[in-house]
Amino acid sequence: MSKFNINLHEAIYSLSDALDLVGVDHIHHGKRVAFMAAECAKALNWPDQQIDDLFQAAILHDCGVSTTSVHAKLVQFEWEREKEHCKLGANILQATPVLSHLSDIILYHHTHWSDLKTFDIPEDIKLKANCIYMVDRVDVSVLGFVSGESNILLGKEEIREKIADKKNDWFNPELVDIFMQVSNSDAFWLSLEGEHISGYVSTWVAHDLTQEIDFNDLKSIVQIFSYIVDAKSIYTSEHSEGVACLSRYLAERFNLPEENCDLIELAGLLHDIGKLRVPDEIIEKPSKLTDIEYQTMKRHSFDTYNILKQVKGFEQISQWAADHHERVDATGYPNHKGKKDLSIEARIIAVADVFQALAQSRPYRKDLPPAEILSILKEQAHTGHLDKGIVKMVETYLVECWEKAMLQTN
Ligand SMILES: [Fe+2]
Ligand SMILES: [Fe+2]
Ligand SMILES: [Fe+2]
Repeated sequence: MSKFNINLHEAIYSLSDALDLVGVDHIHHGKRVAFMAAECAKALNWPDQQIDDLFQAAILHDCGVSTTSVHAKLVQFEWEREKEHCKLGANILQATPVLSHLSDIILYHHTHWSDLKTFDIPEDIKLKANCIYMVDRVDVSVLGFVSGESNILLGKEEIREKIADKKNDWFNPELVDIFMQVSNSDAFWLSLEGEHISGYVSTWVAHDLTQEIDFNDLKSIVQIFSYIVDAKSIYTSEHSEGVACLSRYLAERFNLPEENCDLIELAGLLHDIGKLRVPDEIIEKPSKLTDIEYQTMKRHSFDTYNILKQVKGFEQISQWAADHHERVDATGYPNHKGKKDLSIEARIIAVADVFQALAQSRPYRKDLPPAEILSILKEQAHTGHLDKGIVKMVETYLVECWEKAMLQTN
C-alpha cells in the first residue's frame, strides 16, 4: 500500500473549497464560520488542540449539503428541515477514521442550547457544536449586508442583537458573551471579506506539518468529497466511486505501477468535484441544455483542477482529474489537449467516466446494458474521441468493467 506525504490541514482546506462552491453566490461560508469560531475559542483561551478541532469541524460543518437548493434554504435564519444535513454530515465523518472524532460536533450544529445542554455527551463537544451553530447563524445574517450597495458594518449591531436575543435558548450564554466581546470591533466584521478570510485560513494551513499518511486513510478523506458530489443528484449517486473503481481496474490491466493505481483511484473519486458549483436544475434537467447552461456545466472540470491543484502531493491527481473531458482527437475541454498531451491515466479516466455514466440512468435516458455501452465506446474510439487501446481493453473484460463501474464486486 502506498504512503503519501500530505499536509492534512491543507488537503481538508483545499477540498473544502468545493463545499464552499455549493453556495454559488454565498462562497467562503465554511471559511468564515471557521474564522469566527476560532476567534471566539481564542478569546476563551481554549487549548490549541481544541481550537484546531473546532476549526476543522467548522470548515467541514456543511459537508452534508450537496445541493444548491438545500443551501438556499439554510441561509434562512430558521428552517424546519435544517437538521437533515447535520445527520448526513455526521455520518460522512463517522466513516472517516482520521476525522470521526468530529462527527458529533457536526451532528449537533443546529441543536438549540436549551436541548443540547441536557444531552449525555462530553461538554467540549457541546460547546464546539453550539459555537459553530452560533457563528453559522451570524454568517447567514451577514449575507443580506454584503450584496449590492449595502455594507457589512451597517448590519453589525442588528446581527449582534439577533444573536444576543437567543442567549440561553439557542446559544450557550458564555459563547454569546464572548461573541459580543470579539464582534465589538469593526475589524472583526471587515475580516469576513473574501481576501482576508482566505489569508486567515491559509495561516492555519501553514502551521500544520506534512505527515505520512496511508493510502486508505487518504482515500477515506477524499471519499467525503466524492460522496458529496455524487449526492448532488439521485442520478449520479456512486458515479465518482464507480469511475474510481473502474479506472483502477483498467490501470491494473495495463500493469501501471501500484502508486499510479492508487493515484488514479483518488483522481476518479475527485474528477467531478467542480460540479458542486453547478446549480441542481442544470444537473437534473431532462431536456437539452441551453447554450448558457451547457457552458456552466462545462466549466466543472476546470473548477476541479483549480481546487485540486492547491494540494501539495496532488499534482498528478489534479491533472488527470482535470483532463477527464479532454479527447484524444483534441475535441474535448477545457484545454483541447490531444493524445500526445494526455497521460494514459487521464485517457483511462475519460473512458471510465463515459462507461459509468452510460451504465446509470440519466434524466433524459435510461441506463444501458454492457453490450450497448461497449458499442457506444467503440463508436467514440472510432471517431477519435476515446483511446482505442483502452476501449479494446474494456471489450476484453466487459463484464468485469461493468461490475467495477456499478460497484458490484470488491
Ligand atoms: Fe452552515
Ligand atoms: Fe465530468
Ligand atoms: Fe464524471
